[in-house]
Amino acid sequence: MSLNKTLLLQQLLLGFVILAAIFIAAAEPNSSCVTTCGSLYIPYPFGTSHGCYLDPSFLITCNSSSGTPTPFLNKTEVRNISLDGELRVSAPVARDCPYESGYNPNNSITVLHRQRFPISSKKNKFTIIGCDTIGVIESISISENNYTSGCVSLCDSVDSVVNGTCSGAGCCQTSIPQGLNHFAAALTSLYNYSKVFNFNPCGFGFVVEEEAYNFSSLDLRKLQGQDVVPLVLDWAVGNQTCEDAKKNTTGYACKAANSECQNSINGPGYRCHCSSGYEGNPYLSNGCQDIDECKTSNPCVEKACINHVGYFDCSCPKGYEGDGRRDGTRCSPKPSNSRTIIITLGITISLLALLLGGSSLLLGLKRRKLVRLKEKFFQQNGGLMLQRQISNRGRSMETTKIFSADELKKATNNYDESKVLGKGGYGTVYKGLLPNNKVVAIKKSKICDQNQIEQFINEVIVLTQVNHRNVVKLLGCCLETEVPLLVYEFITNGTLSDHIHDESRASLLSLEKRMKIAVETAKALAYLHAEISMPIIHRDVKSTNILLDDNHTAKVADFGASRLVALDQTQITTLVQGTLGYLDPEYFHTSQLTEKSDVYSFGVVLAELLTGEKAISYFRPENYKNLAMYFVSAVKEDRLIQILEDHIVNDSNIEVLKEVASFATRCLRVRGEDRPSMTEVAMELKGLRTTMEKHPWGKDNQNEEEMVYLLSTPTYSFRIDMGMGSTNATIGQDSISQNLPLKPLDDGR
Ligand SMILES: *[C@@H]1O[C@H](CO)[C@@H](O)[C@H](O)[C@H]1NC(C)=O
Ligand SMILES: *[C@@H]1O[C@H](CO)[C@@H](O)[C@H](O)[C@H]1NC(C)=O
Ligand SMILES: *[C@@H]1O[C@H](CO)[C@@H](O)[C@H](O)[C@H]1NC(C)=O
Ligand SMILES: *[C@@H]1O[C@H](CO)[C@@H](O)[C@H](O)[C@H]1NC(C)=O
Ligand SMILES: *[C@@H]1O[C@H](CO)[C@@H](O)[C@H](O)[C@H]1NC(C)=O
Ligand SMILES: *[C@@H]1O[C@H](CO)[C@@H](O)[C@H](O)[C@H]1NC(C)=O
Ligand SMILES: *[C@@H]1O[C@H](CO)[C@@H](O)[C@H](O)[C@H]1NC(C)=O
Ligand SMILES: *[C@@H]1O[C@H](CO)[C@@H](O)[C@H](O)[C@H]1NC(C)=O
Ligand SMILES: *[C@@H]1O[C@H](CO)[C@@H](O)[C@H](O)[C@H]1NC(C)=O
Ligand SMILES: *[C@@H]1O[C@H](CO)[C@@H](O)[C@H](O)[C@H]1NC(C)=O
Ligand SMILES: *[C@@H]1O[C@H](CO)[C@@H](O)[C@H](O)[C@H]1NC(C)=O
Repeated sequence: MSLNKTLLLQQLLLGFVILAAIFIAAAEPNSSCVTTCGSLYIPYPFGTSHGCYLDPSFLITCNSSSGTPTPFLNKTEVRNISLDGELRVSAPVARDCPYESGYNPNNSITVLHRQRFPISSKKNKFTIIGCDTIGVIESISISENNYTSGCVSLCDSVDSVVNGTCSGAGCCQTSIPQGLNHFAAALTSLYNYSKVFNFNPCGFGFVVEEEAYNFSSLDLRKLQGQDVVPLVLDWAVGNQTCEDAKKNTTGYACKAANSECQNSINGPGYRCHCSSGYEGNPYLSNGCQDIDECKTSNPCVEKACINHVGYFDCSCPKGYEGDGRRDGTRCSPKPSNSRTIIITLGITISLLALLLGGSSLLLGLKRRKLVRLKEKFFQQNGGLMLQRQISNRGRSMETTKIFSADELKKATNNYDESKVLGKGGYGTVYKGLLPNNKVVAIKKSKICDQNQIEQFINEVIVLTQVNHRNVVKLLGCCLETEVPLLVYEFITNGTLSDHIHDESRASLLSLEKRMKIAVETAKALAYLHAEISMPIIHRDVKSTNILLDDNHTAKVADFGASRLVALDQTQITTLVQGTLGYLDPEYFHTSQLTEKSDVYSFGVVLAELLTGEKAISYFRPENYKNLAMYFVSAVKEDRLIQILEDHIVNDSNIEVLKEVASFATRCLRVRGEDRPSMTEVAMELKGLRTTMEKHPWGKDNQNEEEMVYLLSTPTYSFRIDMGMGSTNATIGQDSISQNLPLKPLDDGR
């Protein structure tokens, strides 16, 4: 039995070895492969017969019919193959020689047929030779981008041309684009060479390896007999990227250990090369061999050179230090005796003195430049506009501090990644520590176009007007940096959205806390709409713009999109701005902005507070309009219990929850005028909350919050138009702004 088993095993092993041998034979060339054609060496992946090349696009045919063996790659003559991914072929020359006997105008057009590998845009140039010559190059195809270019070369006499330069006199050149696989070149002339034929009877046009062609005035006659020129193609393996190719180890062409893969920069596919310290053919499994640097070059200062696989070591004689490499720190005597120390010290001190002198000079220059830059940014960032606002208004701006760029840089540890609190379409928010140990949030906007500066100034003005415990406090701003920075009080506990949509936090967010947040948000918005001299429409109410502190006190944030409304204005036409999912459909269709748009957005937040996790899928961009619809229809169809966040519902509170939900649907009514005002919302929710607390389940003790607003600014009138020229529309949780006018999709009225 056991003998049988061993035999079986041996047979299996043998089978495997044979299989492996066949597999390797199929994948790589064997000794019977012909690797030369004439004087050309043909390295794998190229090959001359089946089994010797990687795939048919690397087949080189050797044609000996003309006497000397000539290699061809699909009908194009090959001159040289380099493993760096370059392939030199012979390209045709267009010639226009009207005074030649047997003149054939068709010769003024030449074609390089479609190549498997693209023409190197880095190495080649389209070149025209002649003193009455216009050349055009075209690459026309149905599927790819068409390309047409050309140049003109004119001159009066042979004396006006300069050997070696192609700047339009006798010779002109133009570059070619990436990804070009074929071309047609055509020549024509202005005067049929009648004025120049005694020294330039012909014109020539070709694409040539730039380094391999030097223009000479002798070329003006017959191009010194050349009818083909060298052209470089960029070859690569396959049509995948390295990442994709590596997934299939059998198909992956970088077979050698110590080889690396590199995506082709011109066209699809990838190339292989040996890692540093190795050389050879990376496409063969044993192709990359260690370079014995000690033998091939002389890399060490001293004779002591030790080769290792992949690298080498040099050493320095006793009493010397350094890496011993010619291209490194070489060998220098160790500071040993007192005399050298004194000398070195002397040199060091004088150098130091020099350096210090120099650098302080440089520093002075740099500082002056910095100051100028800061002034520029200050103006560019609306500093003047803000200063005007400040002087117009006097004391209301007093609480807003203008921070210096250095202060904020220090506070954020030079905008360290670890200080990032959040990122969004607007930019980045950093946590900062001011010298007085006050923790702040610093908003750095992303791009700095004029539109955003206006948003920025807008936010500054809006927030300095407002002082309410449920509105995030702006402490100051900085205008000296390229992008303006805003400094806020730091709200410790993240956004409402984080709390609703994070499983562990959501379970801690009781109904009482949710109601507290809803009431506080409503109060803040009611205050903005109705209780300050110049009402403010927030325009971007959403759960990511409501921040919470440790006591779950709500703070409305992000006034970048807000609008100040003059008292006599009831409706404003604006660019639609807001966030899909929260955006009032009426406003979206009509672009008529009223306070009721905030009411709608607040209704969505309220629905979100009640449904929690169950609503998350309705905030995906593809469902953006659905939360409100979904919520409203569930309430109508009496399915509320199915969509409420599970842990907030119990038998005793379901009735009052139904009331809250039904009130939320009033906020979500299609017609703005049917929605309650924010003041009504705040009052109603406060009432409902009190009802809840009268019952035993409402045990959260709430310290009744009071609105604190100190500013009653005198009348002034100004208006900042927002969103001008803005065309970006990000969909999802980010804010959107759209160009108007938007046509009503359906008449909401
Ligand atoms: C090399 O491979 C070719 C084709 O795969 C095969 O015909 C030939 O016999 C092989 N020669 C050797 C020496 O293995
Ligand atoms: C050779 O070139 C022709 C067009 O000139 C093309 O149709 C054919 O696919 C090419 N063959 C290979 C193996 O690239
Ligand atoms: C070899 O080249 C000649 C012309 O140079 C051509 O007629 C012949 O068809 C070619 N043979 C092969 C096998 O490509
Ligand atoms: C041809 O290629 C080899 C390496 O493949 C290289 O050493 C040689 O310099 C190349 N010749 C020309 C003319 O580029
Ligand atoms: C240019 O000159 C040649 C030879 O004299 C003549 O055949 C040809 O028609 C001329 N072409 C033009 C456009 O005049
Ligand atoms: C030039 O080419 C066109 C079409 O390609 C052909 O009709 C014409 O006969 C050719 N002329 C000469 C002189 O070969
Ligand atoms: C290139 O031009 C040709 C003819 O002018 C046209 O038929 C073809 O659609 C163009 N290709 C592209 C990609 O535009
Ligand atoms: C072109 O000229 C430069 C110097 O002007 C020379 O180094 C280079 O070898 C020349 N190339 C050819 C192909 O003649
Ligand atoms: C350009 O170089 C050739 C020799 O290579 C010389 O005969 C000719 O006079 C030169 N032409 C000019 C304009 O310098
Ligand atoms: C990539 O190459 C494979 C085989 O050579 C071919 O089947 C496939 O269609 C090519 N894919 C693309 C996108 O060109
Ligand atoms: C992997 O590459 C080999 C050789 O190119 C091919 O035959 C095989 O189908 C590829 N496998 C997958 C999963 O793509």
